[in-house]
Amino acid sequence: MKDPIEHSCDILIIGSGAAGLTLALQVAKFAQVTVLSKAQLNDGSTFYAQGGIAAVFDKQDSIESHVADTLIAGANLCDRSVVEMTAKQAKSSLEWLIDCGADFDQEISEQGEQRYHLTQEGGHSHRRILHAADATGKEVQTTLQSQVLKNPNITILERYNAIDLVTNTVDDKKTVIGAYVWNRQQEHVETIYANHVALATGGASKVYQYTSNPDVASGDGIAMAWRAGCTVANLEFNQFHPTSLYHPQANNFLLTEALRGEGAYLKRPDGSRFMDDFDVRGELAPRDIVARAIDFEMKRLGVDCLYLDISHKTSDFITDHFPTIYKQCLSLGIDITKEAMPVVPAAHYTCGGVVTNKQGATDIARLYAIGEVAYTGLHGANRMASNSLLECLVFAKAAADNIKLNFSQQASSVTIAPWDESQVIDSDEEVVIQHNWHELRLFMWDYVGIVRTDKRLARAKRRVELLQCEINEYYKNFRVSNNLLELRNLVQVAQLIIDCAIARKESVGLHYNLDYPNALENSGPTFMRPKD
Ligand code: FAD
Ligand code: SIN
Repeated sequence: MKDPIEHSCDILIIGSGAAGLTLALQVAKFAQVTVLSKAQLNDGSTFYAQGGIAAVFDKQDSIESHVADTLIAGANLCDRSVVEMTAKQAKSSLEWLIDCGADFDQEISEQGEQRYHLTQEGGHSHRRILHAADATGKEVQTTLQSQVLKNPNITILERYNAIDLVTNTVDDKKTVIGAYVWNRQQEHVETIYANHVALATGGASKVYQYTSNPDVASGDGIAMAWRAGCTVANLEFNQFHPTSLYHPQANNFLLTEALRGEGAYLKRPDGSRFMDDFDVRGELAPRDIVARAIDFEMKRLGVDCLYLDISHKTSDFITDHFPTIYKQCLSLGIDITKEAMPVVPAAHYTCGGVVTNKQGATDIARLYAIGEVAYTGLHGANRMASNSLLECLVFAKAAADNIKLNFSQQASSVTIAPWDESQVIDSDEEVVIQHNWHELRLFMWDYVGIVRTDKRLARAKRRVELLQCEINEYYKNFRVSNNLLELRNLVQVAQLIIDCAIARKESVGLHYNLDYPNALENSGPTFMRPKD
C-alpha cells in the first residue's frame, strides 16, 4: 500500500469563487492558506455573474433604502441586523475590490463628473448596481485570481474535490481539524490538516433539472457541514431566475435582470405584455413574483417559453450595455436588437444554507461558511438581485477578522486516520449513478419547484429516501468518483430542501405551496439540526 498523501496549512478554504478568494487574500496577511477548487480555479457561479453588485454610491440613494428594499424582497424574513451590517459595508467592500484592480463601468454625469454607472434590477428602488457591462462576475473573478496567484502565502489546489470534514473534540468543543479530499487527476484520496477551515463552496442549484449554475454547484459544502453536525436553515427558499435563454444549444445561459432594469419587456408569444397583471412594479417586481408569473402564464397558455424583448432600444444601447448577451444570442441566430429572446425560469440561487453568525462562524469550532453556501440571515425568503456577490465580500472580510482574532498556528495533536479503501472495489455500474442523477433532478424540478403542494412534496420525500439508501449503499461498496461524490451531496441537500419545504406551512417569498396560499403572520427561519 502507498503512503497516504497529507498536506497541512493554517487555513483551508474550500472553494475559489468570490467568497473563497476574498477570504484567502484577507487571511494570507497573517497565515499560510490552501485554497481548493473542485474544477478549474474560475469555475464557479462567480465567474458567470452578469448583473453586478449592489452598493449605495449615488448621493440620492441611502443605506436605509438598500436595507428597506432587501427586507421587502426577503418578505420580511431577513435578519434586519445582518441586512444593516451588509448594506453599511457594501461601499467599502466594493472599494477594496476596486483597489484590487476591478474595473467597473463608468459614465460622465450631466454635470461633467466621472462616476460609476449604476444599473437597475428587480426589487431595488434606486439605481445601485455596479457592474462591468453584462459580465461582472468575470471581472470580479479574474481580479481576485490575479491577486491570489501572485501571493506567496496562498497555495492553490485545482481539481481537488473535498469529500468530508474531519472533526475532533478540543476543549470540550467539536472542532474541525481538516478534511479528506479527492484528487481528481490522480484519482485518490488525500488528507489535509488545517487549524481553521472555511466552506466557500457555493450553492446547490444543480439539484434541479434546469439551472443557470455551472456544474460545480452541487451543494457539497451544505452536505459536508450537515454530516459534520452543523445546523442548516431555510433550504426551501430556492430562487428561480425568471429569464434563462430557452434554446437547445444554450447551456444554462442567463439573461440578466439588468435587461429588464434597462427597459426590456416580458411578452407572451402573441407579443402582449403580462407583468402588469401580476404586480404594480411590472417587470421590476422581485424575482419570486416574476418567476411565478412566467410559470403561471406558460402553464395557462400551454407554451414552452415566453419572451424577453429589448429590441425597442437602439442597437448601440443594447450592444454597449449587453455585449456578452448580444454575442451569445447572435451566435444562436437571435439578433436581440431586432427580435425577442425566448425565456424560461431556471434554478439560480440557494437562499438557505449552513447557519453562521455575523462572523461567518458555524456551530463547529474553527469552521466557517461564507458566500452562497451560508445562511447568514441576509436574504430571508428571497434574495434581492446583486446582493449575493456583496454578501461574499462582506462576510469573507468578517470571517477573516474573526479568524485573525482567534488565530492559532498550533497544529492539532490528533492524527487523522488515513482514508480506508480496503473494503471497496471499482464501480461496475456507472449507469446507476447516471440514472439516479437524472431521476433526482427531474423530480426536484417537477415536485419541489416554483409551485409546490403537500402531495408533490410527500412524493418527493418518498423518492429521495429511496435514492439516499441506494447511494449510501453504493458509496460504501465502491471507490469514489467525482459523479458519485456530487450525487451523494445532491441527494443529501435535496432531502434537506424537501424537509424544510414540508415544515413551512405557508406561502412566502420563494416558497409557494398551493395548500397554504397565505403567509403566516409570525413565521421565522426553518432550522434543521442533525441528530447526534
Ligand atoms: P462560487 O463562485 O459558486 O464558487 C464555488 C467554489 O467552490 C468553486 O470554486 C467550486 O469549484 C468550489 N467547490 C464546490 N464544491 C467543492 C468541493 N467539494 N471541493 C472543492 N471545491 C469545491 N449574484 C450577484 O450578486 N450579482 C449577479 O449579477 C449575479 N449574477 C449571476 C449570474 C449567474 C449565471 C449565476 C449562476 C449566479 C449569479 N449571481 C449573481 C449569484 C452569485 O454569482 C453567486 O451567489 C456567487 O458568485 C457565489 O459565490 P461563492 O464564492 O459563494 O461560490
Ligand atoms: C442577473 O444578472 O440577473 C443575476 C443577478 C443576481 O443573481 O443577483
